[in-house]
Amino acid sequence: MPQPKYKRILFKVSGESMMGDREFGHDPQAISRICQQIIGAYKNSIEICVVVGGGNIFRGISVAANGMERVSADYMGMLATCINALALQSALEKLEIQTRMQSAIPMDTICEPYIKRKAVRHLEKGRVVIFAGGTGNPFFTTDTAAVLRAVETNCDVIVKGTQVDGVYSADPKKDPNAIRYDNLTYREVIKQDLKVMDQTAIALAKDNKLPIMVFSIKQDSLADVVAAKGKFTIIS
Ligand code: GTP
Repeated sequence: MPQPKYKRILFKVSGESMMGDREFGHDPQAISRICQQIIGAYKNSIEICVVVGGGNIFRGISVAANGMERVSADYMGMLATCINALALQSALEKLEIQTRMQSAIPMDTICEPYIKRKAVRHLEKGRVVIFAGGTGNPFFTTDTAAVLRAVETNCDVIVKGTQVDGVYSADPKKDPNAIRYDNLTYREVIKQDLKVMDQTAIALAKDNKLPIMVFSIKQDSLADVVAAKGKFTIIS
């Protein structure tokens, strides 16, 4: 087992990574891959929070661009993250991992409301805590929600699972000359407007000195990355 460098982490997963090669919704195999990532780290005694996006179901910002009122569109996006959180919770529990789901938008018949102290207690008891509903506010991304929850629950690091093996100067799928970075400062990410997280999320991480690791969920394992092994970019 790789020796973990961090005790408590927040794993940020995009909604798109739950749809695999499909164009919409959920692919059981893709969800199973995410679960295996979580389980690998969990078995290494790491306390794990998860924030999942909602882009596989509904993307508030692009729908708003097509004419829907932004606030309603963002709320629909937040509800999409709740659907994804339920799917992930169900898949993890099938694999006998104890989880608790907490939503920023209270929906008491479905899950717990977000309560920081309760979330921390769940982590201490070895439960994977899935945060849903973004920050509960429109105009904020799930990346910002991830940083916010990571800071609130005293996570040592936020680990973002993506389709590529780190942060590049441009989209490596479109630009063959894109440069890959091993290390970046928050300031460099903001100044160069690198598309790893939105600027609000980066600024919040910077203010709270929360390191961000970015790795490929297809090529590397979460357990290795939190042991500082494998390929990743670290922003600190
Ligand atoms: P500890 O008492 O600290 O061990 O935590 P616990 O989560 O096991 O206890 P609790 O009695 O708070 O919760 C028991 C179950 O009910 C868990 O699955 C919780 O996620 C769930 N639960 C707790 N509060 C709510 C709620 O407001 N809404 C819903 N839907 N479920 C809840």
